Amino acid sequence: MALSNSSALRVFVTRPIAAPALRRLAACARVDLWDDDAPPPHADLVKRSRGCDAILTMVSDRIDAALFRQAPHLRVVSNLAVGLDNIDLAAATRAGVAVGHTPGVLADTTAELAIALMFAVARRVVEADRFVRARRWRMWTPRLMLGRDLAGATLGIIGFGSIGRAVARRAAALGMNVIYALHHDLRAKRPARAGIEAAADPPVANPVPLARLLAESDFISLNVPLTPATRGMIGREQFAAMKRGAILINTARGAVVDQKALIEALRSGRLGGAGLDVLEVEPIAPDDPLLKFPNVTITPHIGSASHRTRELMAELAVDNILDVFAGRRPRCCANPVVRLKKISGLGAGSKSGR
Ligand code: GLV
Repeated sequence: MALSNSSALRVFVTRPIAAPALRRLAACARVDLWDDDAPPPHADLVKRSRGCDAILTMVSDRIDAALFRQAPHLRVVSNLAVGLDNIDLAAATRAGVAVGHTPGVLADTTAELAIALMFAVARRVVEADRFVRARRWRMWTPRLMLGRDLAGATLGIIGFGSIGRAVARRAAALGMNVIYALHHDLRAKRPARAGIEAAADPPVANPVPLARLLAESDFISLNVPLTPATRGMIGREQFAAMKRGAILINTARGAVVDQKALIEALRSGRLGGAGLDVLEVEPIAPDDPLLKFPNVTITPHIGSASHRTRELMAELAVDNILDVFAGRRPRCCANPVVRLKKISGLGAGSKSGR
């Protein structure tokens, strides 16, 4: 779907996003919108990116070297996500394409889901709802659906960027004892952006070694990006090192956890439950064994899915594109070392015969 604008700047937007942000983009560029919630097949993504100055992408769009080769005019990929594991960053930098993403604006919303999953698993909320709907609720009994308290429990947060810190603030307010570990690949903090990460740092002491976090935590929340260093970082060995009955919460990326090892840990009772917003393969296969565990709550990758946050993400994704059109790096740039392509004037696109 083409949104009419006579500008020579061309942008492919790979899914419908919040209308005000889309309108702002369409006021400055010729926007080609993939008007479907299902992702464009990769061949279409590549084809529609050809001749574009920018593409606005989602976590489920694979942005690889082949795409950069076929889109020589591309100056910026703007991902509507904080995560960047769908983008070959090195190839983007080699191709002179800036990569923008949307950190900060989604931290609170994602942290709220992490806490919601903790409650859901610990207090068996989804299981209890199914119990009621199955008409199995006959009477009140003192042993019905007993769960676990968050207050007084130890929460171990792995990864302490803006989302990990937002989880920590909430958990501390709930009376949890919060500890955190940094993966060696991760920096403790990203520079806060004024007006976005305004909340005070959480009341948590220094990081602890991962081994100590695994041994002491009643709940473990994963808040790391997916990188080669974090892929599979929670596997058999880490499950074996966890406190018996610990509850794992993953709102980061499915591939941070070795899913076979997760299933074994649930079967053996080493793990007391899991709240999973992300999986190795999404969507989950209908015969996936994870669907059989009553103590596992699964949500369909909705960490940042609130109306307001998706609007803020769309605005920031558009800002990242407009920054590049104005000759600057995106304000949230994932490859700041990139050498931006020269802008040869707004008419450049049409002159080059795209
Ligand atoms: C969502 O998964 C994100 O990375 O923002």
